[in-house]
Amino acid sequence: MSGVVIKTGLIGHPVGHSKSPLIHEYWIKQHNLSASYDLYDCAPENLEGTVHRMRAEHLRGFNVTIPHKQSVMALCDTLDETARAVGAVNTVRIDESGMHGMNTDVFGFLENLRRCTRDIDYTNAPAVILGAGGAARAAVYGLLKSGVPSVTLVNRSLDKAESLAADMAAYGAVKITPWEKRDRALAGASLLVNTTSLGMLGQPPLDLSLEHLPEAAAVYDIVYTPLMTDLLQRAHDRGHKTITGIGMLLHQARPAFQAWFGVMPDIDEALERLVLS
Ligand code: ATR
Repeated sequence: MSGVVIKTGLIGHPVGHSKSPLIHEYWIKQHNLSASYDLYDCAPENLEGTVHRMRAEHLRGFNVTIPHKQSVMALCDTLDETARAVGAVNTVRIDESGMHGMNTDVFGFLENLRRCTRDIDYTNAPAVILGAGGAARAAVYGLLKSGVPSVTLVNRSLDKAESLAADMAAYGAVKITPWEKRDRALAGASLLVNTTSLGMLGQPPLDLSLEHLPEAAAVYDIVYTPLMTDLLQRAHDRGHKTITGIGMLLHQARPAFQAWFGVMPDIDEALERLVLS
């Protein structure tokens, strides 16, 4: 090895609890690369200065997390189609032509779904999405692009659902159902996705009855602490196919690693165990 260390990292606020270093450092070692993945904790008002410093340190690229996923877009020289459509960048690649913003959350969301539903056609009926934040944006865009006939958005704040639906109108049909009518919204769905923080450790529970959800529907929770959320446990007990959130976290990291190091890494059981430990 030449002794040159390829630098990458994560910018966010806070970043201390992120699982991303575990994932990328695991692959760096597995592929025998001389590289680092460092944390850059920076408040919103310091974003530009910190990105400037990262470029001065010759980073090959970096991940972006809360609260910078939208604001970093203005600092990018190019944006890929997904980042533009979703309105968020979670991965940046830097080369001599500048900073290139990408969104790999959509890939992570869909790849996890595809791998877990090989025997189910989730594109034959509407999908119901709970939530209208950043994760919901990735989910709605990904599902519409993969041929789901329509998406029903159910969110506590109607205005956020309306704004998401308007942004996604170019990609397919998005309907809105008020939060109070969430139980009935499940009738006829092929897929239910929770993108809210409800059910996460330390957050309120998700109060949702599954009685109207068709038997063949799959249930996907992007919350992964705990891995088997109350929603997934109840869905499993009713015989639904369930999809945990850890796969989304792992799969979104793969195209980022590829963008920086030119290798598409794989997920194995040891990595899964490491991230869940
Ligand atoms: P992310 O970007 O990770 O998706 P977010 O933008 O904070 O996170 O979105 C969190 C989602 O959980 C939102 O849809 C939020 O609903 P609001 O748009 O009404 O804020 C939803 N959420 C959080 N706490 C909730 C609660 N107690 N009841 C219902 N929805 C809740």
